[in-house]
Amino acid sequence: HKNLKKDLQKMKMTLESVEAALSDAERRSINDSSALLWVNRLKAAMYDISDMLDDFESDTQSRVGAMRKKISMPDKMKKMQKRLQKITEDHQNYRLLPETRSNEPQLPDIRENAGTMVEAEIIGRAEEKLEILARLSGSTTEHTTFVPIWGLGGIGKSTLARLVYNHPEFEKHSRVWVYVSQIFDLKKIGNTIISQLSRQQSQQILDLHSINIRLQELLAEKKNALIILDDLWEKRPSQLEELKSMLKQSKGCKVMVVVTTRDEGIANEISTVQPYKLPQLSDEMCWEIMSQKSKFETRDDKERLEPIGRDIAKKCKGVALAAQSLGHILRSKSYGEWNSVRTNHIWNLSTSTDASSSHEVLGSLLLSYNLMPPYLKSCFAYCAIFPKGHIMIKDELIHQWIALGFMEPSSIFSYWQLGESYIMQLLEMSFLQHSKRLLLNGTT
Ligand SMILES: Nc1ncnc2c1ncn2[C@@H]1O[C@H](COP(=O)(O)OP(=O)(O)O)[C@@H](O)[C@H]1O
Ligand SMILES: [Mg+2]
Repeated sequence: HKNLKKDLQKMKMTLESVEAALSDAERRSINDSSALLWVNRLKAAMYDISDMLDDFESDTQSRVGAMRKKISMPDKMKKMQKRLQKITEDHQNYRLLPETRSNEPQLPDIRENAGTMVEAEIIGRAEEKLEILARLSGSTTEHTTFVPIWGLGGIGKSTLARLVYNHPEFEKHSRVWVYVSQIFDLKKIGNTIISQLSRQQSQQILDLHSINIRLQELLAEKKNALIILDDLWEKRPSQLEELKSMLKQSKGCKVMVVVTTRDEGIANEISTVQPYKLPQLSDEMCWEIMSQKSKFETRDDKERLEPIGRDIAKKCKGVALAAQSLGHILRSKSYGEWNSVRTNHIWNLSTSTDASSSHEVLGSLLLSYNLMPPYLKSCFAYCAIFPKGHIMIKDELIHQWIALGFMEPSSIFSYWQLGESYIMQLLEMSFLQHSKRLLLNGTT
């Protein structure tokens, strides 16, 4: 059994490197047909491996299954290893050599997180909103007020920030929304704020000093400004200090900044008032989100479904994103499938090793992913080749999906209609998010 485990481990590692090679290959536009063929072979092999691993994992749940697998797995694995070796050799022939992410062109990514959420659909958070407003109301015209909202990914920080941003109290304020992301770029942040404050696409200013001057000029013209810095990951105090000094206020203008971050340390570092830890939603609220997304109310079997649904909602541990994506997945599922989601072994994977809930949440997202139909999985997995926060153009994405053969052929819908519906589904599950810029251009 030990050997089998080792082999399995090795297999998993191979799978990971295959995935890397695959995304590498797919990242370039492939117009060479032999290379395309290679990619398709690799893709097929990868699916087989992950099926095999899934099989193995689910079968070890039962003892009999484990016994049976012990015998058949090693054989299968050997064959698979050989197949991969051959594919890897071919790989070299097509010279799809690895390339690092860093030399990819960085595209502008003013992503408007949670931007399309209709306010009426937001469950709870009224008190939380008041908390933030209270912390902001203490601000004066002397120093910029920084109010961080921190908490787990998906718990609803950006959504809350959006509620604050849209609050009538700030209607007359100059408002700015910056999606900061994992790549911290002070110049980009500065330029984004400048263009939103001046309400025009101004030319990018290249040196930090001039950015600072221009920002101070603009802020001095305003009476009140509300700036949201969404999704801050930068930890270095020196960088955070620079950010703060960039937003220091000129006389006569009140500047308020709301920062969202996952990291408590960052929250403490940047805040000028007490940082706000966003609490998780109650199980009841998660259930509300889930029933909304699963169109639970419209189902005939809702009485039977409810206790199961509530059980699943509990497992979301108060994370909105988990409730939302699972709800969406469950919409098209039968009673039996709801039940199997409830008892799925993914829920247990995490709890045994980690006391914090973050792993379990990942479990719920992994589950949503696993439950997607296969074609949607490929389309979504393909998006992983873009850096976080990257703006994808819908039409281009659909073209790429079609070219890579990811779409499930249909006699009723054209590829184009299918692509649109895939995108809708991914948006509804929050696996993709709308971008402000796309909305403006009408190219969503
Ligand atoms: N209170 C809520 N009610 C309903 N949906 C919510 C709520 N809070 C967040 N969501 C949804 O959950 C997802 C994750 O929320 P988001 O604010 O982006 O989380 P975070 O910024 O903490 O990572 C979003 O799709 C959002 O629309
Ligand atoms: Mg966010």
